[in-house]
Amino acid sequence: MRAKSLMLGGLGLMLALSGTAYAQGDAEAGERKATACMGCHGVDGYRNAYPAYRVPRIGGQHGDYLVAALKQYQAGERAHSTMHAQAEELSDQDIQDIAAYFARQKQ
Ligand code: HEC
Repeated sequence: MRAKSLMLGGLGLMLALSGTAYAQGDAEAGERKATACMGCHGVDGYRNAYPAYRVPRIGGQHGDYLVAALKQYQAGERAHSTMHAQAEELSDQDIQDIAAYFARQKQ
């Protein structure tokens, strides 16, 4: 019993370190971390506070696409000062969690 849970724990750690699949993200944690994003990206029933802005909808987007996009903003491979500032603050785990949260939402 104990040996088995240790093995599973080790497997989980390996998956977490490989850091590719968004499925490792914790959508519950992502929901809390995504509050700052909601002011612009919104969810059903929300409206952008600044209608002058065109903001892409990210709820329901594929998780791996979201992870890739955030890492590109973070690295400056996608040029957008606002999203660069947003992504800069995020750890890899934050990105996974947030992606899992948005990917879970229905279009
Ligand atoms: C101040 C407004 C604002 C905030 C806050 C914000 N974003 Fe964005 N986001 C934008 C805008 C504007 C774009 C479009 C940028 C572009 O054209 O590349 C964008 C683009 C994106 C994209 C790319 C979407 C696509 O279809 O390619 C992702 C992913 C994203 N944001 C995630 C987030 C996450 C996660 C957060 C919270 C950590 C966040 N954003 C916070 C304004 C914002």
